Amino acid sequence: MTLKVVILAAGKGTRMRSSLPKVLQPLAGRPLLAHVVATAQALVADDILTIIGHGAQSVMSAFAPSNITWVEQVPQLGTGHAVQQALPHIAANDTVLILYGDVPLTSVATLRDLLSLVDSKQPLALLTIKLDNPSGYGRIVRDQHHRVVAIVEQKDAQSDQLLINEVNTGIMAVHGVQLQAWLSRLTNQNAQGEYYLTDMIAMAVADGFVVQTTSPQAEMEVLGVNDKFQLQALEREYQLSQAKRLMQQGVTLLDANRLDIRGEVEVGQDVEIDVNVILQGKVVLGNQVKIGANVILHNVEVADGSVIHPFSHLEQVKVGAHCRIGPYARIRPSTDLADRVHVGNFVEIKNAQVGEGSKINHLSYIGDTKMGCGVNIGAGTITCNYDGVNKHQTLIGDRVFVGSDSQLVAPVTIENDATIGAGSTITKTVPAGELTLSRSKQMTIKGWQKPAKKPRE
Ligand code: UD1
Ligand code: CA
Repeated sequence: MTLKVVILAAGKGTRMRSSLPKVLQPLAGRPLLAHVVATAQALVADDILTIIGHGAQSVMSAFAPSNITWVEQVPQLGTGHAVQQALPHIAANDTVLILYGDVPLTSVATLRDLLSLVDSKQPLALLTIKLDNPSGYGRIVRDQHHRVVAIVEQKDAQSDQLLINEVNTGIMAVHGVQLQAWLSRLTNQNAQGEYYLTDMIAMAVADGFVVQTTSPQAEMEVLGVNDKFQLQALEREYQLSQAKRLMQQGVTLLDANRLDIRGEVEVGQDVEIDVNVILQGKVVLGNQVKIGANVILHNVEVADGSVIHPFSHLEQVKVGAHCRIGPYARIRPSTDLADRVHVGNFVEIKNAQVGEGSKINHLSYIGDTKMGCGVNIGAGTITCNYDGVNKHQTLIGDRVFVGSDSQLVAPVTIENDATIGAGSTITKTVPAGELTLSRSKQMTIKGWQKPAKKPRE
């Protein structure tokens, strides 16, 4: 079977009240359309034909490069007219699946189910659903044998048809040759003056075919986004379903409603996640990892037994096993922490490798640094990595002790087992095994008087 997926995405999305085209509005950190494209890819579509109109340029550039075939629809004369634009890319033997760029959460299983209903003898299948409030949707009209006879749009429906609660989700599968024939016969003689894709249903029935239907497992799968409230509602539904998936894998969540996953998460056993955590990009959490409240992890790997304390923000970081991070740690891209590393509060680390068992516990900036094992960085230590023009490296050996409030002016090397006295400004190589310090001697001025306040003139 050759599968062509057509995604309708030309509409304006006026009700979003946004300069961003509707299908680029983010759900779980990705454009709505990206969810639909991912679904089409999961179905192993031979071509993904995406119909664009409003904001076409920005939609295309948001997906470049990609294997999407872009088809422009100008002007937009209805859903039937939209699919007509894709016809040059569709062959008689293709199976065509029609999806919507603003309906992001349809499951692959539901669509496989729909596709299984279509072949050359049964050329049309619809995804329908029963809704408590069918208002706004096209209604599925059936005869006394429960066979589908037509879809009527809300605006064209008679009062008895408005009572029907089985609705058209818009998603359908059609055999190529019939799609070509039926689309060529569409007219716009209806309440909205549009070419309705849904008019194909009555044509199929007139041609003697039985129209097959199936329904999704969850209503969320067919919900579209028209305004910011629906976008938010779908985001919450989606997040809750992801939280459930994690709990099924054994993760302990303190509150399933206060976790946001904007990407992919892999977990080991006995992971615990406190409230208000955001996991972005690709996040891998090993066995017994604990994530504190209000932590943000973006493209982060955390190995077994490590704890990320509250309010820490990590981006593009590898955390080894049994590390202790935060609270209030900020660890920036290209940082690699080995096992048993401790990073404490108000510590910023960037582009650094930190060896096993090293500790940076308080108020430090460590950037562009290679640090060995068993190092202790005292409170307030700063690597001065930037001379105003270029960045330079700091190399710190094994078992180094840096006294509090020291500045390491890069490029600079601290050799193994060196000790640096507190308050030192280090500009040259610190030799192995020795105590090095750079500060003026403490002195006391005997009998010194505090300045007195001048009398007012
Ligand atoms: C459509 C269906 C209706 C169904 C509903 C489900 C038709 C005639 N009606 O109605 O039966 O219940 O979806 O939500 O198909 N679009 C284009 N080009 C166009 C027109 C629309 O790309 O010329 C896209 C829109 O961007 C949107 C989608 O198609 O993503 C649906 O269009 P919309 O006008 O919202 O259809 P409805 O009137 O809601
Ligand atoms: Ca419409």
